[in-house]
Amino acid sequence: MVKTAVLVSGGGTNLQAILDKRGKVIFSADIALVVSNKKDAYALERAAQNGIRGEFISSKNFEEKLQALLEECKIEFVVLAGFLKILSPEFTAKWAGRIINIHPALIPSFCGVGMYGLHVHEAVLAYGAKVTGATVHYVNEVADGGRIISQKAVEVLEGDTPEILQRRVMEQAEWILLPNAVEQVAKLIENKVK
Ligand code: GRF
Repeated sequence: MVKTAVLVSGGGTNLQAILDKRGKVIFSADIALVVSNKKDAYALERAAQNGIRGEFISSKNFEEKLQALLEECKIEFVVLAGFLKILSPEFTAKWAGRIINIHPALIPSFCGVGMYGLHVHEAVLAYGAKVTGATVHYVNEVADGGRIISQKAVEVLEGDTPEILQRRVMEQAEWILLPNAVEQVAKLIENKVK
């Protein structure tokens, strides 16, 4: 199994989707660590509830501390799940091919700097798009710019608010795509090493 860290900043519903799919969809990744850049992220509570080490890292020298913790825990694969901090080109280059992210839209639509959380769904509704969805992609130095791994479309419905649309995108796309992508990439990493 590939020792895996999940980076979070908020509620952790994508982390929960990963945890719930262990042994059902996920067989090749061992979720060994959860790291948040927000002290009060409920995602850390979800880690604790599942007996998984959870760590808060403050912004000061964040990447240096993160890299040290990943090495201490012998992490081989990093999953960004609702993680809202931009990582440096140096960091993403070090982890190239071993770091993925979930974005709540169909990249290249509604992505890039400033496009995160509810802002994404507000922009979809403001534009009048009829279809949106979610994307799992490799992380590189460009915000939401890495190679696409998987996508799933979701209908925009009459009367949708950003909150209603976000929930539908989570339920019908994010929480399905991410566990499948974690298994897919973990298997690739495992095979490359062996
Ligand atoms: C979700 O919209 C996710 O797509 C985005 O951050 C939001 C919260 O995710 N990346 P979570 O509930 O913290 O997993």
